[in-house]
Amino acid sequence: MTIPIIKVQQLSKVFATNDMLTHALQGIDLEIQQGEYISISGPSGCGKSTLLSIMGLLDFPTKGKLYFEGVDISQLSLDQATAIRNKKIGFIFQQFNLIDDLSVYENIALPLRYATHLVNDKQIKEKVDYCLDVVGMSSKAKRRPTQLSGGQQQCIAIARALVAEPSILLVDEPTGNLDSKSSDQIMKTLEALNNQGTTLCVVTHDIDYAEMAKRKIYLLDGQVLGQTSLDY
Ligand SMILES: Nc1ncnc2c1ncn2[C@@H]1O[C@H](COP(=O)(O)OP(=O)(O)OP(=O)(O)O)[C@@H](O)[C@H]1O
Ligand SMILES: [Mg+2]
Repeated sequence: MTIPIIKVQQLSKVFATNDMLTHALQGIDLEIQQGEYISISGPSGCGKSTLLSIMGLLDFPTKGKLYFEGVDISQLSLDQATAIRNKKIGFIFQQFNLIDDLSVYENIALPLRYATHLVNDKQIKEKVDYCLDVVGMSSKAKRRPTQLSGGQQQCIAIARALVAEPSILLVDEPTGNLDSKSSDQIMKTLEALNNQGTTLCVVTHDIDYAEMAKRKIYLLDGQVLGQTSLDY
């Protein structure tokens, strides 16, 4: 049995605001293996984004364990956790979070410029050009993000998430800002990436898009309500 990319055990998250406690996640158990395509769905407020943030080392659990490629995250310093996040995890969000002052090319190159290992300009160009090609946006390299449609901007965000060759893509409502045609296109792009080996965990409240995943996890009130998987 290979080591899962992500393993969460009895994970809980409580938010304290003013005098109120919100039990956002309550005793979640989940494993994600290399090459999987998982969707996490459920109604607004059920804890989807909270779970994704914790799995992406953007936030920490109140209780329970998170292992990333077998490493117990609770044993790491903040710097070590940040290094894993930058190197091993690609994020895609509803807001594309592109930098308008930079070209499309420079937006995609940015994670490599932050990477701990040194990458020279030639290597950066090879990787950026490859990722632009993967999402079908090679002709847009010199544009600014504001000169692109929403669907095209999300493609650039996908390329940026891929460029450092992460172990997993964590995706939160990728189509939330898009019309239905662009949404379908983005979901097809993600599916194609998984078919080529990229491990995907996609949060969505769209039932049809959740169904595209090979394993589906349903959350309700911070708990796993059920799972279904395709045999593949
Ligand atoms: N930073 C925070 N401080 C306090 N409460 C929070 C915080 N983040 C999330 N919550 C609460 O935790 C619960 C889960 O929120 P979360 O954002 O994970 O839901 P979600 O399933 O992603 O919802 P949506 O589909 O609307 O995006 C909600 O009750 C929310 O109000
Ligand atoms: Mg959310």
